[in-house]
Amino acid sequence: MTMSVETVTPLDDTSAQTLARLLAAARAARERAYAPYSHFAVGAALLDEQGRIHAGCNVENAAYPQGQCAEASAIAHLVLAGGARILAAVVVGVADDPVTPCGGCRQRLREFAADDVPVWAADLQTVRAQFTVGQLLPASFGPGHLKHPLKP
Ligand code: THU
Repeated sequence: MTMSVETVTPLDDTSAQTLARLLAAARAARERAYAPYSHFAVGAALLDEQGRIHAGCNVENAAYPQGQCAEASAIAHLVLAGGARILAAVVVGVADDPVTPCGGCRQRLREFAADDVPVWAADLQTVRAQFTVGQLLPASFGPGHLKHPLKP
C-alpha cells in the first residue's frame, strides 16, 4: 500500500517542527542500525510527554529471532530516560512501500500510546504515510484489560 505525500495531513508550525525533529532523529538512528543479515536498516523516534525525543535502530543477531526492531530500541531509551507516554512516532526505512511498524512493535507502541497518536512512515526524503496507533492496531489488548488480575 502506498500513500502519496498529499494524503499526509498538513500540520501546524509546532507539529511540523516536532515532526522535523523526529524525522532527523530517526534518520540518524537508522545510520547506526546493526543489520548485517537483512541489510534492512530501520530507525525510529518517539516523542514523550515531556517533549523529549528518543531514538532507536534495529539490532540484529546471528541467532535471528533475537534481533530487535528499531521501535523496541527507541521504547527502551524512552523508558530508561523516565518517559511514560508516547505522543508521536516516526519510523524510517527505505522500501517500495512505506515502512510501517511490524505487528509486534504495534503492540509495543500501544503499551505507551493512545489510539489517536500519530505514526509517520518515512524514508530518507519524505514522509510516505501517516497512521494512528488505533489504525495500525484496532481493537487492541492493553494494560486496561489487566485491571482485574485475579480469576473471577
Ligand atoms: N524492522 C524494524 O526495525 N522495525 C519494523 O517495524 C520492521 C522491521 C527490522 C527488523 C529486522 O532487523 C529488519 O527490519 C528486517 O525485518
